[in-house]
Amino acid sequence: MNAPALEVHMDADDLARTLRADVIAGLTADSKWLPPKWFYDARGSELFEKITELDEYYPTRSERQILHDHAAEIASHTRARSLLELGSGYSTKTRLLLDALTAAGTLETFVPMDVSPTALSAAATRITADYPGLRVHNIVGDFARHLKHLPDGGDRLVAFLGGTIGNLVPEERAQFLADVRSVLDPGEHLLLGTDLVKSPRVVVPAYDDADGVTADFNRNVLRVLNSSLDADFDLDGFAHVALWDADREWIEMRLRARWPMRVTIPGVGLVVDFAAGEEVRTEVSAKFRRDGVDRELDDAGFALDHWWTDRDGLFAVSLARAV
Ligand code: SAH
Ligand code: TRP
Repeated sequence: MNAPALEVHMDADDLARTLRADVIAGLTADSKWLPPKWFYDARGSELFEKITELDEYYPTRSERQILHDHAAEIASHTRARSLLELGSGYSTKTRLLLDALTAAGTLETFVPMDVSPTALSAAATRITADYPGLRVHNIVGDFARHLKHLPDGGDRLVAFLGGTIGNLVPEERAQFLADVRSVLDPGEHLLLGTDLVKSPRVVVPAYDDADGVTADFNRNVLRVLNSSLDADFDLDGFAHVALWDADREWIEMRLRARWPMRVTIPGVGLVVDFAAGEEVRTEVSAKFRRDGVDRELDDAGFALDHWWTDRDGLFAVSLARAV
């Protein structure tokens, strides 16, 4: 069995530097915010995996159904020799693609990229055990900064699942898609999972479940600041808020101060005051329509070859070709 290769583009120094810059920018802004990639330390990655198993969280099972129904077609259409997965996490659903591409006999290499080294190594251990002969090359990296380190080689399929593209705001999304396109050669493919616009009665509970797993996940970013920057956030002082923005068609996650608080963050030399009711935006999760996805792919230099949804029309997977 091949040991999985590990390539690290975010060492401790890089992490510390980017976390500090993000915290200073976000928590000194008039409307406070924090970037979502800091949710995913070991505990955050585990909490996200628990979210994917919640009754309320329909995106994972909808996307799994689509991949289950169309993996063989994805394999025969792309004949991919390498599968590059961005924001791979535990790569649970990805196994449907690995199975189909292995059965088609084309797949040689699997390259998952994630900011979470713990999720990557847990996934790699299981995948190398279950797919003998598959070369697994892990990349600890930020998909907004490190796409240029993806291996070249031809017949590549980039997978970006889970609706994670919706966690980028429109300008970041356009940049991201252009960056993905620029690392691909014409004829190579992108498989993109997007959550679809639907009633807030369905969307909101997916981001505000009854057991409070999502609330715990949202507050985990404060735990990360406490442990990495020696901050003294009182997690009980922050309420989890999930709001549907009907104009932008996205869910917005916030942490709302329950009472006035003064937080010290020695790692960046900041003292941050929160008024009662003041909010920190921690994440957006945009929902899509087919026209919009088609247009954004086209703008980035991709042609939409296939658009599949689950039977309930909750989620979509697009197979796009670099042109
Ligand atoms: N693909 C999985 C996980 C989705 S959750 C699924 O579909 O269930 C989002 C994943 O993206 C997490 O594993 C998180 O660690 C990773 N992530 C978030 N921001 C990232 C970034 N900027 N660069 C790379 N990975 C990122
Ligand atoms: N990519 C996931 C999504 O947008 C991330 C996510 C799910 C998330 N639930 C969350 C992020 C709660 C922050 C808080 O669906």
